[in-house]
Amino acid sequence: MTKTLIRNGTLVTAAETFPADILIDGEHIAAIGQNLSALDAEVVDAGDKLVLPGGVDAHTHFDLEMFDTVSSDDHYTGHKAAAFGGTTTAIDFVPQTPPSNGQTDGFRRDVETWWRKAEKAAIDYGFHMNLTFFDEQVARHIPDLLEMGITTLKVFTAYNGRLRLDDESIFRALRIAKEHGMLVMLHAENGDVIEVLTREALEAGHTSPEWHALTRPPQGAADAILRVGGMAAHLNTPLYVVHMNTAWGVDILQYLRQHGAPVMGETCPQYLFFTIDHLRRPDGAKWICSPPMRTAEDNARLWEGLAQGILQTIGTDHCPFFFDGTHPIIYEGRPVAIPGKELGRDDFTKIPNGLPGVQDRLPVLWTEGVVKGRLTPNQFVAYTATNPAKIFGLYPRKGALVPGADADIVLWDPAKRVRYGVAYSHQRTDYNLYEGWELTGYPDKVFLRGHLIVDGEHWLGRRGMGQYLHRQMGEIL
Ligand code: URP
Ligand code: ZN
Ligand code: ZN
Repeated sequence: MTKTLIRNGTLVTAAETFPADILIDGEHIAAIGQNLSALDAEVVDAGDKLVLPGGVDAHTHFDLEMFDTVSSDDHYTGHKAAAFGGTTTAIDFVPQTPPSNGQTDGFRRDVETWWRKAEKAAIDYGFHMNLTFFDEQVARHIPDLLEMGITTLKVFTAYNGRLRLDDESIFRALRIAKEHGMLVMLHAENGDVIEVLTREALEAGHTSPEWHALTRPPQGAADAILRVGGMAAHLNTPLYVVHMNTAWGVDILQYLRQHGAPVMGETCPQYLFFTIDHLRRPDGAKWICSPPMRTAEDNARLWEGLAQGILQTIGTDHCPFFFDGTHPIIYEGRPVAIPGKELGRDDFTKIPNGLPGVQDRLPVLWTEGVVKGRLTPNQFVAYTATNPAKIFGLYPRKGALVPGADADIVLWDPAKRVRYGVAYSHQRTDYNLYEGWELTGYPDKVFLRGHLIVDGEHWLGRRGMGQYLHRQMGEIL
């Protein structure tokens, strides 16, 4: 077993900031304290770096087939990018196969498909299960997911005829989740309103990217959060609202929480910075995702929601596509081209929904959140590592700097300045949302279970070294 002693660091946890050394023994943190010594340990001097727990991104979509293409990062390329950005755990969503002839053999085959895809994993990972078909048989199989280490189900109130569940099914899924200590996650939009507005927009000849946002009104998120949040309140069972993007959504979440409902919320960096105006640019398709970008007022209320603790986490919803998938990029020395946003050049409904972000999350949030005084360093750690680890049943193995935890550790250089963009990023796509942004603060070294996987610009990780995380029931925050 190798030992590593990280000396003279300033540890930043969700609760406090303090000077300490960390001794790593094998894959775990063995000790934290002042002036630790271990003669047989390799010593790393943290110097003026901060020592953070590895980031936990509870919302990724690697190698996901949708919109006649596939998200352009897989479980290796996406994990490698995540690691360069300081994230050492990712939780991905398993799509549910429709029951055929009214028969389902449950979720095992779907989960096995995702396990196979993730054999190339480079950081540790878990899965959520998408629940997009629901009947008696499906209902009976939901508890099987626990044996597979999956304690969370995502339901959708949009994507009619594809992913959406009706309210009866969502209510019943919440009840089963309560019975088995599982957590339901909600994609909140109003699918019926979207259908009507999209049909009308296309009939009127509106095909440009901004219509993606105009046909998905923000009130749809609010009504879905209130409706499903109301069910969760009635049942007294937890609900986690993913990718929150609107001020109304934050207001409704606050209302539900003030009334004692166990409802939690996640936002993503893109919703803190961008607006519908980005969709109006000639390259507006780069910003197409669901739910869409809104207004500066929405951005501000989401920041406020974080500062006030109405929201609990910041994930990425990393689901990248090429902007122009007809032109290859060079990835690890080889040309790669994957059909992307150009598929919807003449019709916004055909633009693949999703954005890159798994590497960008921590560096962008440090600069825009911590350096600009919107978040304390401890809130930064809470929202990006500790809270998702707690909510998704990984704490204290992940998201914590405590003896016994996995030695997932980031030496964070708060002084490092980076001109960020696609050339700097390892995300396997041809653009970056933060192109040209001047960032201050970046990971210097990243350890995954004690293994140094990123050292400055150098990738020391390996395909297949990521471990599947059999998750437990989580906490309600
Ligand atoms: O546009 C997005 N967000 N694509 C990924 C799927 C989802 O709903 O999270
Ligand atoms: Zn979603
Ligand atoms: Zn998503």
